Order: sequence, then structure tokens, then C-alpha cells
Amino acid sequence: MDYKTIIEPFRIHTVQAIDLPNLAAREAALERAGYNLFGLHADEVIIDLLTDSGTGAMSSEQWAGMMCGDETYAGSRSFFRFEETVKDITGFDHVIPTHQGRAAEKILFAVAVEDGDVVPNNTHFDTTRANVEYRGAEARDIVTPGGTDPATILPFKGNMDIDRLRSTIEEVGVDRVPLVMITVTNNSGGGQPVSMANIRAAREVCDEFGIPLYLDACRFAENAWFIKMREEGYEDKTPREIAREMFSYVDGATMSAKKDGLGNIGGFLALNDTEWAQTARNLLILTEGFPTYGGLAGYDLEALAIGFNEVLEEDYLRYRIRSTAYLAETVLAGGMPIVQPPGGHAVYLDAAALLPHIPSHEYPAQSLAIELYRAGGVRGIEIGTVMFGRRDPDGGPDEPAAMELVRLAIPRRTYTQSHIDYVAEVVIDVANRAEQLTGYRIVEQAAWLRHFTARLEAL
Ligand code: F0G
Repeated sequence: MDYKTIIEPFRIHTVQAIDLPNLAAREAALERAGYNLFGLHADEVIIDLLTDSGTGAMSSEQWAGMMCGDETYAGSRSFFRFEETVKDITGFDHVIPTHQGRAAEKILFAVAVEDGDVVPNNTHFDTTRANVEYRGAEARDIVTPGGTDPATILPFKGNMDIDRLRSTIEEVGVDRVPLVMITVTNNSGGGQPVSMANIRAAREVCDEFGIPLYLDACRFAENAWFIKMREEGYEDKTPREIAREMFSYVDGATMSAKKDGLGNIGGFLALNDTEWAQTARNLLILTEGFPTYGGLAGYDLEALAIGFNEVLEEDYLRYRIRSTAYLAETVLAGGMPIVQPPGGHAVYLDAAALLPHIPSHEYPAQSLAIELYRAGGVRGIEIGTVMFGRRDPDGGPDEPAAMELVRLAIPRRTYTQSHIDYVAEVVIDVANRAEQLTGYRIVEQAAWLRHFTARLEAL
């Protein structure tokens, strides 16, 4: 008999207590934090779905590996283990460790991107966009039609729009497009996968114009699993084979190992271009550290070398993707509109559909995120106009973001099914009294990445 329930393919070895603050404590915390959930303390949160980044549980193998960490400054054994693992999965010639993904982005764009350039991406993550813009370049999102419509169901809704890639290059001129990036999975577009055929098609266009193609590979293993499940010809391939093929079509990748590295910290820039790699290593020394540690301890490199292999195990990926879909299906059945189909690492609640009475410039997704925390101590994150909207220089309403979402990101191997059942109960309760929610206004904000520190107040 093949039983239907897909269980967590691990048992719990160490536990960490969760605090259970009551409603009054949560309301006080919200006020103190200026209604910005980034300002909450961990003890004020019951289930923390702010991010899947660096919040996962490491395996006993990884913890054991940390004891073998070699802290040699130059030429650490742990670095060579890390490098060998990354090369084995990606096939790239140069592997440059960094303390996290955005450090790899900053270095790559410092090497490649100049003032006035345009970088196309299916959808830039916020740090990727900020690092492109910091170089004086334009970060242009060209996701497939339907990719920004929460209700559209497509198997590879994270795909890049290949026609727009071509027309963008023709419009701005090949000299102003220093590289093209594809984000797998498409985090800001709902954690949606990108097909192998799409990566291949982007490669062909890039070859035609002689432009390098890079992956933002944070969730490469989850993307590989979706390809295995959904793309013809890949059902019998292993996630490792699929990942290798994905990387074989690109010239390099930036990686946050806090996601599919199953680590709490770490990242890399990996690439084939020797000249770019040399410049990148010099920049690395300036800010991150020597090229055999890149801002990481030897024990981090060791844990990541093990994590990169564990993340490609089929039992893990089957459980991982299924547990996200389980939360999505439960809240959808309870009346919460979501981005369809469910993504890999997170469920994205569609605040625009739930709260039509709150206009974008009054931040419906922020309002929903605040209420989920207030009601049940569940912390998600706004991916809407607070994060991606444009401030009007004359003080008018913000230019709205493409979607108003609240992301509930699932930390890897951390929460059990009853935690997820509790989250679903909170989400459904809030959905049932959506009309009571009100808008917010921003009273304090920074020039970049304002969502991290802005303070808000209820309207
Ligand atoms: N690219 C993508 C697609 C990401 O999701 C992230 C991080 C980064 C780059 C940057 O990596 O945090 O290691 O510097 N995403 C986290 C999130 C923060 O919550 O989605 P980092």
C-alpha cells in the first residue's frame, strides 16, 4: 500500500521553545514597532514566516560537519570541500564564497554593471534590484504574461518573457545590457518556477547578442523539483541532474546559501569568466575577506558543503514542496485568495483580492500582514507597495507595485504540520473578517529598501 500522507522525512533531534505572547502583548509590540513587522522581536512572534532565509534547521550531519570546520585563513580545507561541492552541482570554473546572496550580487554588479545600463530579470528580488540601481542602472522585470496575475495558473509562471527580452535588448542597445539574470524560483513573483525550456530560450537570445546570462540561484533545488514534476522529459531525471542542466546554460550564478544551501548564513558568486572572477576576488578582499573564506567561518563552509547535497535529496524536496502546497490548499479552501499555483518556499496571500476596499497607496498587503500578526502571532511579509511601490517626489500617492501580496515563507525543516494547521486557522479567521481591515500610511521612510525600517500608522 502506498500511503498518501507525505511525512517530514526527519525526526526532531533538538528543540527550541516558542514564546506565546497574548493579544495585548502583540498589540503593544505592533505599536512599538511602528506597524512594521521587521521591528518585532523573536519572542513576540509565535510562528515566524517572515522568511525562509537562514531560518531553517540544519541536520545532525551538518552540525557534525561544523566540528570539522577548518579555520585556516588562506587555503582552508573547508573551502575546498565547499568549492568542490558547488563545482560538482553547478559546473562553474570559479567559486567565490560570500557571507550571503546580496554580497555576491553587489560584487557581480560592481564588476559588470555601469551607470545607464539595463539589467533584465524575470523579477528582481528587492536586494538585487537595489544593487542594480545602486550602480545607476535600471533593473527591468520581464516576467512572462500572466506572471503578475495571482489567479492565472501556469506550470512555469516564473518564466522570463523571451519576446520582451529580445525587444528590451533591441530597444536599449546591446552595449547597455551587461548581463541578463533569471531568478529561480521567482521569489517576488510568487515563488514560481522557471522551466528548462525557458532558460534554454533565454540562452539562445543571449548568445545571439553576445550577452552573459546569470542565474539568481537561491532556490535552485526547489526549481529543479518543479521541473521534474511538471516538464516533459524530466520525470526520470534526478534533481541533481536537472540542477546541473540548469546551470549548464548560464555563465554564472549568485547564490544565497541561506535558502537552498540549508545553512543559516552564506552564499557564493560562481562563474566561468576568468577576468570577471579576478576582479570579483579583488573586490571580495575589500569587503568580504580572503577568497577562501569570503566572510564565512570554516565551519559555515563545511555545513554548506553538506547542505548543498542534502537539499537535492528527493525525499526532502517532495516533502518540502508538498508542505507548502498543503498550507496553500487549506487557506484557499477557507476563503483566502492566494497566488496560484502555490510556489515552492512560500504561500502568497492576495491582499488586493481580499481587500478591494483598501487602495494600493494605503498598503492593503501591509494591513493584512499586520492583522495576521495581531490575531495569531503569525509573522509574514508584505510584498506590495510598501516594498516595491515608488514614492511620488511631490508627496502624492505612491506608484503602486504590480501585486499586493503577503508572503508566508516556510523555513526549511523547522515547523511541523500542526504549526502549519495553526497558521491556516489564523489566516482563515482573518479572511472571514476582511472588511474590518483598514489602510495605513507611512510616517517615516528611508530612501532605499524602505520596507525594512519604515514606520506606519493606521488610517
Ligand atoms: N535573490 C533572491 C531571489 C532572494 O530571495 C534573496 C533573499 C536574495 C537574492 C538575497 O540573498 O538575503 O542572502 O542576501 N531573500 C530573502 C527572502 C531575504 O526573504 O526572500 P541574501
